[in-house]
Amino acid sequence: MNFVVEPSVLKSGAVTVPGDKSISHRALMLGGIAGGQTRVSGFLDGEDCLASLAALEAMGVRIDKPAATEIVIQGAGAAGLRPPENVLDMGNSGTAMRLFSGLLAGQSFTSQLVGDASLSNRPMNRVIKPLTMMGADIQSNDGKPPLVIHGQKLNGVNYSMPVASAQVKSAILLAGLYSSGEVVIHEPVITRDHTERMLGFMGVKVNRGETRIIMRGGQRPMGARIQVPADLSSASFVVLAAIISSDAEVTISDVGVNSTRTGVIQILKAMGADIKIQNVRLFGDEPVADLTARSSSLQGIDVDPALVSLAIDEFPALFIAAACAKGKTRFSGLGELRVKESDRISTMAEGLRALSVAVDETEDGAVVHGGTIYGGKVKSHGDHRVAMSFAVAATVAKWGVLVEDTDAVSTSFPGFVACMQSLGANIQGEQDSVVNS
Ligand code: S3P
Repeated sequence: MNFVVEPSVLKSGAVTVPGDKSISHRALMLGGIAGGQTRVSGFLDGEDCLASLAALEAMGVRIDKPAATEIVIQGAGAAGLRPPENVLDMGNSGTAMRLFSGLLAGQSFTSQLVGDASLSNRPMNRVIKPLTMMGADIQSNDGKPPLVIHGQKLNGVNYSMPVASAQVKSAILLAGLYSSGEVVIHEPVITRDHTERMLGFMGVKVNRGETRIIMRGGQRPMGARIQVPADLSSASFVVLAAIISSDAEVTISDVGVNSTRTGVIQILKAMGADIKIQNVRLFGDEPVADLTARSSSLQGIDVDPALVSLAIDEFPALFIAAACAKGKTRFSGLGELRVKESDRISTMAEGLRALSVAVDETEDGAVVHGGTIYGGKVKSHGDHRVAMSFAVAATVAKWGVLVEDTDAVSTSFPGFVACMQSLGANIQGEQDSVVNS
């Protein structure tokens, strides 16, 4: 699939975006091992989370899906997971692979986790190391998937994480539910805290400091009703479309605004974006709000590296904001972007250059020279967020833009094309053969 986008006049309106990917994965995994039933609404019916769902079903968890975004999980309880008959396919999802590593390290059986070409190239030692310290036995392909996990009796751990990663933190916490001792985790900087919040919401005692988490091992979550907020990461593409448009105001409802995720709003506001956060309330332990974004005149800035972990998935969108801003925007401290679904520093720099925007790439960031976006052909490198970023950029381009290899958009934002079309974007998803003919 490719996106074919023509210059568009964005119109004002109200949209919804799908459920939060991180929270949907966690609801499945914690619901899957909980005592009792967990009902999830607002579930992200995207390929990444469906990979987690299928893996739990393959281990004997009963999951009903009365509607695409509603799931009912009959928790398997302590020691309730059954050995899977086949390999567990995590698809494109780093979150699924890393969180399941933790969940499966303390089971009484062996499991094997595989992924697609992108995931098979992503680093796994960051979870293997702390889990091994807890007693896990995990074999990898030189630090990369596939992973073979021989379930072991686990002990506690006191671990200072060298990389800021919510996935690593969460893997340790999930393993901790099966460990005999206490788990103490020190983060280098604060990262998304959905696991800690959901554990607490499901009755697990977690003692939290700013960047230190302590959890007694062997606790069992209890089933709960979980309402998943709309994903701020997906909402960011709509916010971006609105702020770079010439005259539009767009509202997105029920968006997760957990402060460990809102770096994107802080950065865009520092660039001069008009974004309002209204009607803040809670879905369980997660704050949500309605976001309203209006056409804005953006200025280049030096992005504060302290905000990187709070906006880790939004840099592709922020690179586009920078391309639409007046002057230079400097990004630094983005080393982790090189090991996401693609090397996002280089894929974004390459794509922007293809649209005639000047970018100086550095080892851990880039300088984006704001200016006119012309037309052209952009490779997404199979990265969902890169594909969506360029689709949005294309709405303000001078000429048409072809974004190649966009299938992965359905991992996180099914309905992206329809959502953008509803706002007046001239975007079509076309099969390669149609485009090439
Ligand atoms: C995620 C954490 C982040 C993020 C990913 C989802 C999570 O990864 O990039 O899309 O759900 O925990 P890291 O924690 O590895 O930075």
